[in-house]
Amino acid sequence: MVTIALPKGRLGDKSLSILQEAVEGLDGLDTESRKLILNSQGSKLRFLLVKPSDVPTYVEYGVADMGIAGKDTLMEENRPLYEVLDLGFGKCKMAVAGFPEKGDHRITRSHTRVATKYPNIAQNYFTGMGETIEIIKLNGSVELGPLVGLSDYIVDIVESGRTLRENGLVVLEEICDISARLVVNRVSFKTKNKPIKDIIDSVQKVLEV
Ligand code: PRP
Repeated sequence: MVTIALPKGRLGDKSLSILQEAVEGLDGLDTESRKLILNSQGSKLRFLLVKPSDVPTYVEYGVADMGIAGKDTLMEENRPLYEVLDLGFGKCKMAVAGFPEKGDHRITRSHTRVATKYPNIAQNYFTGMGETIEIIKLNGSVELGPLVGLSDYIVDIVESGRTLRENGLVVLEEICDISARLVVNRVSFKTKNKPIKDIIDSVQKVLEV
C-alpha cells in the first residue's frame, strides 16, 4: 500500500487527474464525497486529502509516502523530503509586490513591513538582499496589506496577475518560479522503492506525452 497526500483546492483536481492518467484502477474514486481518505479499488493506493500547506507534514512524518505540493509550500515548510518531479502545472511566480510609485522607497527606508502567507520565504529573500524587515503573517487576501497601510509590500504568489492589477499593485521583484512537485518520504523511498519508483515513472511518462 502506498499512501499519497493530495492538496485540496487549486492543485487538487489536476493532481488527481494526473495520477488517474498514470496509474490504472483509479477511476472509481469517490471524489464527490467529503471523505478525507480515498482508497482505490483496483490498485494499492490510498489518498489523503489535506490542506495544501500540510502536505509536507504528512509526507515528512511518513503517514503519507508521497505527496503533491506547490513549490511555494515546499520552500516555506523546508522539510526533509525528496522532491522527485516537477509536475509542470500550478505554474505561478513568487514575487514582491506593492504600489508602483513606492517602488524605490524600500532602498532608503530603515524599517519595511512585508505582509505574507510565506514568512520564511519572505524573511530569507530580504535577508539575502541584506535588508531588515518586519514580517506580518497573514493567512489570505494578502494584497489588502498595502491598501490599508498594514504593510509596505507583500510577498505572495502571482498567477494571472489579476488580483494585483485589480488592487492597483504591481510586481516589484520576482523571487522564483513555482509549480506543483511530487515529493516522497525519505524512508518510504527505500522501504517501498519499487511501487514508488513505478508511480514516479508512470507520472513522468504522462508528463512527456
Ligand atoms: C492567491 C494568491 C493571490 C492570488 C494570485 O490567493 O495569494 O492572492 O491567488 O492569483 P492571480 O495572480 O491569478 O490573481 P488565493 O486565491 O489562494 O486566496 P487567498 O488570498 O485567500 O489565499
